Amino acid sequence: MATAKKATSAKLKIGTKTIDLPVFYGSENEGAIDIQSLRKETGFITYDPGFGNTGCCKSDITFIDGEKGILHYRGYDINDLAEHCEFIDVAYLLVHGKLPNEKQHLSFSKHLNHHSMLHEDMHHFFDNYPDHAHPMATLSAMAVSLSSFYPELEQTKKESIDMMVTRLISKLRTIAAFSYKKSIGHPMVQPRHDLKYCENFLNMMFWTPVNDYKLDPVCVKALNKLLILHADHEQNCSASVVKMVGSAEANLYASISAGICALWGPLHGGANQHVIEMLETILKRDKGNIKKVIERAKDKNDPFRLMGVGHRVYKSYDPRAKVAKQMCKDVLAKLGVNDPLVDLAQKLEEAVLADDYFQSRNLYPNIDFYTGLTYRAMGIPTNMFTVLFAIGRIPGWIAQWLEMKEDPDGRIGRPRQIYTGPTLRSFE
Ligand code: ACO
Repeated sequence: MATAKKATSAKLKIGTKTIDLPVFYGSENEGAIDIQSLRKETGFITYDPGFGNTGCCKSDITFIDGEKGILHYRGYDINDLAEHCEFIDVAYLLVHGKLPNEKQHLSFSKHLNHHSMLHEDMHHFFDNYPDHAHPMATLSAMAVSLSSFYPELEQTKKESIDMMVTRLISKLRTIAAFSYKKSIGHPMVQPRHDLKYCENFLNMMFWTPVNDYKLDPVCVKALNKLLILHADHEQNCSASVVKMVGSAEANLYASISAGICALWGPLHGGANQHVIEMLETILKRDKGNIKKVIERAKDKNDPFRLMGVGHRVYKSYDPRAKVAKQMCKDVLAKLGVNDPLVDLAQKLEEAVLADDYFQSRNLYPNIDFYTGLTYRAMGIPTNMFTVLFAIGRIPGWIAQWLEMKEDPDGRIGRPRQIYTGPTLRSFE
């Protein structure tokens, strides 16, 4: 990547006019050219579809070096956090800027438990969704509905915000489990105060009146780790949506609901479901023929893409995918699960890494490539994978939304365009 390190300004020449644009750097030396005065001074705007070169904020939350495959939350390496923390510690870290001490951990855990139930009237919502409703649709609708059941009077007051944050992190997990129970026609299982965050989710998913679900520490640890890996990823599509909605001063529940919808897309968080569906198709329909699927992915006349491969920011192996891959192997071994899709995924990865098309474009497996295989081994159904991504991502969305609210440079999000339609026509 070409850099001009430590320049203090950039000169831009347009026709005969030259302007100086300020340059600034982040704490990890990433450089930016501040173009806020560009249109005013020159009449020009920048053109950057997909915002690949556009910085929309300064942020203290997450650092990614896509070339080196590095991911830090609040200065901590993702590998350390995934190894040593519970998900709620990382949620606390993202939202409050520091890891909780023991007292703060216990207090946060208690608050999450205290706010884990749903308003009784919200239960009726589930009755009217069809059984085949995708749980992401239910989750998004319920997230925005929380704003009607729990309207916080002062959106800017710290106590109100703390309450919204706790409710979102806790209740969306309950909603997620309920939407699964609804989809299989089972009675909903209430959260329990004696269980921790991830234990509660698994219990709400798998306990039934005829089967007293026994929590497996392997699954609890795996879920904590998976949620941590998903907890934030700076200005990705869904986080940008959350902030865009919030920039219009919509409330946090509405902003998170919009983020859930963005995450659902198969090019974003929805990819984890599509990876498994793709692997199943290769196994069943194509009889394990990897070559065929690789050729399809490379064919420019075919819209098909390999799901779980490629990333806008990572031009080396996604550090989350590294952890997820190792964890997948460990969890399957500990649970004694033998899944033919895992062998297939490994062969597909090998073929991708050895192929010039993918090498020349720096395309590697991303986080979604191996996570679904672990969820599958834990008994979680495919249509819940993206829901789990959302549950993991909620603290990141919240942290980004809160940071945006405090940003002195913050304004309503409103990109510009270059109009290419007809010029004024006479109306006859
Ligand atoms: N399969 C085949 N080719 C691919 C793939 C893929 N999965 N991903 C990118 N490419 C190719 C593109 O066709 C393009 O080729 P070209 O230069 O010949 O035109 C080149 O690689 C660059 O791709 P872009 O589309 O420009 O990359 P972009 O940054 O816009 O897209 C994305 C990133 C959406 C993740 C893309 O790689 C993709 O569609 N991957 C599959 C879906 C997926 O796994 N999404 C999850 C991402 S992680 C997350 O959101 C949590």
